[in-house]
Amino acid sequence: MTTLPMPAVRPANPNFSSGPCAKRPGWSVEALKGAAVGRSHRAKIGKARLEQAIDLTREVLQVPADWRIGIVPASDTGAVEMALWSLLGARGVDMIAWESFGAGWITDVVKQLRLPDVRRIEAGYGELPDLSTIDFDRDVVFTWNGTTSGVRVPNADFIPADRTGLTICDATSAAFAQRLDFQKLDVVTFSWQKVLGGEAAHGMLILSPRAVERLESYVPAWPLPKIFRWTRNGKWTGAFLGAETLNTPSLHSSRI
Ligand SMILES: Cc1ncc(COP(=O)(O)O)c(C=O)c1O
Repeated sequence: MTTLPMPAVRPANPNFSSGPCAKRPGWSVEALKGAAVGRSHRAKIGKARLEQAIDLTREVLQVPADWRIGIVPASDTGAVEMALWSLLGARGVDMIAWESFGAGWITDVVKQLRLPDVRRIEAGYGELPDLSTIDFDRDVVFTWNGTTSGVRVPNADFIPADRTGLTICDATSAAFAQRLDFQKLDVVTFSWQKVLGGEAAHGMLILSPRAVERLESYVPAWPLPKIFRWTRNGKWTGAFLGAETLNTPSLHSSRI
């Protein structure tokens, strides 16, 4: 076995940065000065902060105007689970994984949702699977940047513009660090605790018009708990979008 020598050059900030990430350079507690502490997220000021977080997300990530952005419970994991449980089952699914988080989404789809038509397209640590074998007329679930192996997709060129399935992308280690091509992505999830170095607990879910169409036209065969429910009697309730969070976010989060 080869033993690698200890690197002579160390990073300026040696803290583990896979998440929760370090604060941005120059951050200090002063940044929390205007935080709406002690106020309700349903109050005017709280709602305005949440709206600002969504507006800035759209602006910085260049999310198209007709893609919807919501703040959802349970960090990136909550956002991914919400997408899997609410959208999958309408057609076959290709699950793509090359490290532990992608593998975890496969476990959920195969062992918890128990979908009958699942193809697993996988590679070991340090490698990317053959993306040309993905069938985009099926739904496709993949991780943009595989945090635990450090392997990412190079870009979104492998995704056809005229796909009929949905692409569900766990982009938590990519959003704000790597360019995301939203025209090729129907569901994008991430959490503030990653690249932004913000607070944990809530996740972000970005939905294309085709993903919204699926939500409004497809009712999964399984029951959905309150934290995953978008529709009532087959109708969109507006839940999880804009400043309408289901449960209580920390208003520190809006002052990252
Ligand atoms: C690729 C990937 N997906 C999901 C998660 C889970 O993120 P969260 O703790 O925000 O739910 C992580 C966190 O490390 C991750 O790296």
